Amino acid sequence: MLNLISSSVLLFAFPLFLVVYVFYKYFTNPLRKIRAAHALAPFTSLWIHSIRWRSVENATLRGAHERLGPVICLGPNEVSVNCVKGGIRDVYAGGFEKGGDGAGHNWYRFFANYGGVDNMFSTGGNKRHSTRKRMLSNIYSKSVVTASPALLAQTASILYDRFLPYLASTFSQSQPGVLNIYALLSATTMDIVTGYIFGLQSSSNLIDNPKQLAWYLDLYNSRRSYNFWPQELPGLTSFLEKLGYRLVPKWVDEANREIEKWTKGMCERAAGALRQGEIGVKETPVVYQQLAVALSKEAKKAGGEKTDLSLPIASEVLDHLAAGFDTSGITLTYVIHELCLHPEIQADLQREIRSLSPPIVPSSVPTLPAPKTVDALPLLHAVIWETLRLHSAIPGPQPRVTPPQGCCLGPDEHPYYVPGGVRVSASAGLLHLNEEVYERATEWRPERWLGLDKVDEEKRKDMESRWFWAFGSGGRMCVGSHLAVYQMKYIIAALYSNYTTTVVDDTGIEQIDSYTAPPKSNKLMVRLERLETRGM
Ligand code: HEM
Ligand SMILES: *[C@@H]1O[C@H](CO)[C@@H](O)[C@H](O)[C@H]1NC(C)=O
Ligand SMILES: *[C@@H]1O[C@H](CO)[C@@H](O)[C@H](O)[C@H]1NC(C)=O
Repeated sequence: MLNLISSSVLLFAFPLFLVVYVFYKYFTNPLRKIRAAHALAPFTSLWIHSIRWRSVENATLRGAHERLGPVICLGPNEVSVNCVKGGIRDVYAGGFEKGGDGAGHNWYRFFANYGGVDNMFSTGGNKRHSTRKRMLSNIYSKSVVTASPALLAQTASILYDRFLPYLASTFSQSQPGVLNIYALLSATTMDIVTGYIFGLQSSSNLIDNPKQLAWYLDLYNSRRSYNFWPQELPGLTSFLEKLGYRLVPKWVDEANREIEKWTKGMCERAAGALRQGEIGVKETPVVYQQLAVALSKEAKKAGGEKTDLSLPIASEVLDHLAAGFDTSGITLTYVIHELCLHPEIQADLQREIRSLSPPIVPSSVPTLPAPKTVDALPLLHAVIWETLRLHSAIPGPQPRVTPPQGCCLGPDEHPYYVPGGVRVSASAGLLHLNEEVYERATEWRPERWLGLDKVDEEKRKDMESRWFWAFGSGGRMCVGSHLAVYQMKYIIAALYSNYTTTVVDDTGIEQIDSYTAPPKSNKLMVRLERLETRGM
């Protein structure tokens, strides 16, 4: 009898309790007033998890915002915003935290390296983050990047001694002038970014080492499809791992260890160069040196003179080199793809680049034109900005957590109350499709960026800053944006000084649905032709 009672309790009472509980949670959740992306969204996060697991988040969010407006509910504890006022202005410029330190799940903890050593990007709380950002923002500021003799010498050396000779060497293969430009661009951005961080002698040379390049890209890209579990469900992932069931295969961890080891090697070489003193301009490890000095000052203040700083430094610079090469390489690949599809714009750009003085090619003394002159080329700027808009390298959600006291989101006429501890995000790829700001928004039209000094001030601000979100905004905005633009402009200028490009094979050029979004195929095959043979 007793048995029967207890089993019927289990059979009926427990499911009943669960249903009551879910409805109770629903009716007491302020998010139920926000239009839901799916009927299940206000009840359970299983729906949004399944969307992410299937890698269809981008298209799903786009469709949902089109149907339901600028603020939508994605789960019982999550919303997505797609507007400036009551949206990114409040969340990002308003300094909502990434979470952690007891304030909800920090989605970015996943980007800590060396077994959980935090860096600027992975740090949750604003206070710890801004201490670190203050150490680094100056060396990445536009004025310092533009005026840096070290960066200019490093860039000149990489373009004249590696990049241009590599392009010329493709003409002696069986298919003259044909190459996977995505791989070369990734190598070039990695070499320039690590050059600035570690100094040229201590940095990577992936352009001249195709084997090492393939090794790195393979390690880096192979991990991507396993990000879902540790990033979205870190508790479950480590719990199952303790039971002996791995959701992420062992080789992914091993790939991470290898990338970490590689980075540590560059750190050690830079430290060695600094100890020797007397280093040339090109060899200056600008970022490494700044970080090492600032961190040891901090440690001294805290009374820990003997603290070993090698891991905090390595974790920080590993994030910069990964963020720096990946995003710039992706953007450049789409610049080249669009220029292949728009030969008339390509020809105009070549004319503009050839007006540089001194010219990049032909050049009797390999000297780059000044950064300011390159930065001032209007069409080059327009082509890069339009690509950052339409093919953002980080097109999807950048999650933050609402503050403990909660907040109001949505347009003034119709705000929604959102309690504290809720995950909230916006997506560059969706903000950039606003037809009121970017007419014919799905088309690549660099001309929209030309002559902006003549248009209405409000319109210009909308296009250039309020709705332009390729680098994010607020205190956690991209620290490397000026370095990114600097290297992208020089690389495009060098390539189109001497060559014309056409597509050989662009199957799989669509961006994958993940945090950083390279082409599905990880390649873009193009054919180079010597510029003169086509005439100007
Ligand atoms: C086209 C190139 C680039 C794009 C589109 C880009 C985009 C972004 C975006 C959108 C964020 C904010 C992400 C978020 O909060 O989820 C970010 C942050 C960051 N980026 Fe970039 N980035 C680029 C190049 C670079 C370069 C060259 C570096 C090298 C130093 C870099 C280093 C960083 C770092 C360290 C952060 C974290 C900043 C913080 O937490 O305060 N990025 N980037
Ligand atoms: C996002 O999805 C849309 C289809 O809804 C597609 O046209 C667009 O290219 C996608 N963008 C990215 C970055 O995946
Ligand atoms: C320009 O292209 C031609 C043809 O590939 C090559 O021979 C020449 O070296 C290139 N110039 C530079 C500076 O790379």
